[in-house]
Amino acid sequence: MAVFLAVANRKGGVGKSTCSVMLAHGLAVYGGKRVLLIDLDSQCNASLILMGGQGWNEARKAGKTIADYFYDLFDGIPANARDYVAKNVGDVSLANGKPAPISLVPGSLLLEDIQGELYLKQASQSNVPEVVANRVRGRMESLIRRFEGDYDVVILDCAPGLSFAALAALKTADKVIVPFRPDYVSQLAVDRVAMLIEDMRNLDDLAAMPAEDRRYVCLANYVRNDDRDYMMIEEISLVHPVLETFLPQRNGIANAFDYIGQLRTIDVKYSDAAGDVKELHQEIARLVETVAAKKKATVSVS
Ligand SMILES: Nc1ncnc2c1ncn2[C@@H]1O[C@H](COP(=O)(O)OP(=O)(O)O)[C@@H](O)[C@H]1O
Ligand SMILES: [Mg+2]
Repeated sequence: MAVFLAVANRKGGVGKSTCSVMLAHGLAVYGGKRVLLIDLDSQCNASLILMGGQGWNEARKAGKTIADYFYDLFDGIPANARDYVAKNVGDVSLANGKPAPISLVPGSLLLEDIQGELYLKQASQSNVPEVVANRVRGRMESLIRRFEGDYDVVILDCAPGLSFAALAALKTADKVIVPFRPDYVSQLAVDRVAMLIEDMRNLDDLAAMPAEDRRYVCLANYVRNDDRDYMMIEEISLVHPVLETFLPQRNGIANAFDYIGQLRTIDVKYSDAAGDVKELHQEIARLVETVAAKKKATVSVS
């Protein structure tokens, strides 16, 4: 039974794809977990980081992307979810030299378009827009859940918009990681996505909710060694749960965006940020264990 982690924020450029991949590397290499990353953003950055341009083009040509998966299986065509998964992706090796066990459902530029098409298909069955939207989202949710059996952790890298796929990911997630940059615009973006996740109409109601009951946790990224950044993180922590680990602005993180195509250790890939990846992994691994234990307990009771 997998733990689903969505990485989401309605703002772009805050490090969602960077953190999704970093978590995948940490969980696979340090945690020994079987990890699947599903790229739900039509910008496809996570796919490019993990496969490079050539690998991603091949997946597109072969019809093995998330858009193909949703499109092909939406109407119950009996295709196998496993056929859409690229195995052992990325350029990071384990200590024994083998590739880190990370799988990927590659992203697609067409994800937005097919969501429109799926909506129209469903619209023939009901003329209530909300009913149609809920059906599309619900179907995507169940398609995302199909990968559960093969992995310990499934990471959902979300697009910034409110696509059906992003909403389905937020519903599916056991925990949502919300990366943010410590600035004023980001604070508003964190407030908005948090209210969406917890289904709250206003910030006061959200603030009254105990932090441990919340399904999301924020991650400060791009942090400069500057009092203003630390004050902004403090301010956000007054309303939202924030991970103790924060990610500084580092060359090693920026450069890890580039796919090299040759295996290297996680320390070499992340260079001056290797310690950050390890620290982030330790905190997330605890979170994953807690969620996994809760899920197990729920299943054995029911
Ligand atoms: N901590 C960091 N230090 C340096 N560069 C970063 C850091 N986090 C993200 N970046 C860079 O910022 C850009 C946007 O990150 P990305 O993960 O694509 O954001 P998003 O998925 O939220 O749009 C990328 O070029 C990435 O390399
Ligand atoms: Mg992204």
